[in-house]
Amino acid sequence: MHFNRRTVLTGAAATAALAATVRAQVLPPSGFATPSGTFPFAADVYRERRARLMATLKDGVAVIHGAKRGATSGPVSPPFHQSGDFAWLTGIVDEPGAVLVLAPAERLYREFLLLPSRDVETERWDVERLPLGSQIEARTGIQRVRRTSGLDALVTGMAARSRTLHFMGPIASASSPVPAALDLYNRVMARVPGCTLKDQSALLPALRTVKEPRELDLMRRATAATKAGHLAAMKAVRPGMTERQLTAILETGFREGGGEGLSYDSIVATGRNAASLHYAHGNAEIGASDLVLIDAAAAVGTYACDVTRTFPASGKFTTQQRADYELVLAAQDAAARMLKAGVMHEDMTEAASAVFRRAGRIDDFTHGLGHFVGLDVHDAGDYAKPLPAGAVLTIEPGLYNQPLNQGIRIEDIYLVTATGAERLSTGIPRTVDEIEAFMAR
Ligand code: GLY
Ligand code: MN
Repeated sequence: MHFNRRTVLTGAAATAALAATVRAQVLPPSGFATPSGTFPFAADVYRERRARLMATLKDGVAVIHGAKRGATSGPVSPPFHQSGDFAWLTGIVDEPGAVLVLAPAERLYREFLLLPSRDVETERWDVERLPLGSQIEARTGIQRVRRTSGLDALVTGMAARSRTLHFMGPIASASSPVPAALDLYNRVMARVPGCTLKDQSALLPALRTVKEPRELDLMRRATAATKAGHLAAMKAVRPGMTERQLTAILETGFREGGGEGLSYDSIVATGRNAASLHYAHGNAEIGASDLVLIDAAAAVGTYACDVTRTFPASGKFTTQQRADYELVLAAQDAAARMLKAGVMHEDMTEAASAVFRRAGRIDDFTHGLGHFVGLDVHDAGDYAKPLPAGAVLTIEPGLYNQPLNQGIRIEDIYLVTATGAERLSTGIPRTVDEIEAFMAR
């Protein structure tokens, strides 16, 4: 449509048409701009979660910072990974540097999303970002969207009305930087007398630990993709191949199995390399008598999985390898047998450790028993509380022995139920017999 000055001035219809044209020119179409919306669920899922959280907080103000973009060593950025707390509450996973502000007792607007200001030059390089307005509020489902430059004034005003500041965690160690929310609260408290700082750092982990059915659905899909990759690698491995070649086969299998990304950098370690727990990006040649350790998983809908398998490159365990492997498996089973709602995590660790202790091998088990899994591979959750039904966690004992040139870890992912646990990572050969039979095919 073409306008000249006269048609523009001829009345309401033309004015509305002009407004529509201007909007169409200013706003990039959906899919070409961030925030693209909420992911992986619809906006009302996140609105309901925020409402649940605010019902618990009752009053005051809670500030939750999203992740910032990671440091780059070159012109191309690594993939952006949103913080789990922020992703769980907003579904906004494509805007680094965002901040969520919740104020349950405010009269009209109780949730604010603050986004960094736009930079047209940067947007020429990475992605076009939406301007503020009703479209961004419709896409994100958040009542009010503002710029982060207004954060301090917004929170100061809310604090002056409510006098309560909620710290939502996570608790940082004394040697790491002061969390951004605490830093802001400290500055607000120096200006608004009579504010109370409340520790609410247990709330989000408690909410996030119990998975919703729709989250479990994505985690099952991530596990199916993970299985496809592990099977492809276990089938293809040959002595003489390199760790990197095997990684390529593994990750192709993830994609073919429906994986949308990696839960973390794949660990593919042969022989002695497997005794280094987070060995990654190696390119050693796989030896004929090596055990190969693969700790890797696909992600679906931003949900993680986490599985480790250890198997002989030749397809046959030696007597020593079989004995060690079966010890690790016995430790995993000892912990898994205890797993059900109400159990204490440290009691499971004790059960697994007891297996190694009885065999005189406790010093070769050099890490924790496992961890919660969800939006983050090492997900939010309180290990000091009884495990709730609906939690998903790994059990991953291992034995690491550099003089023997080997590291063995067996890691599976389990859903806690009222009466026991469901191993989600089924169908990936796990016992010595299952592995040897699968590799012989
Ligand atoms: N999958 C790596 C870890 O759990 O630390
Ligand atoms: Mn793990």
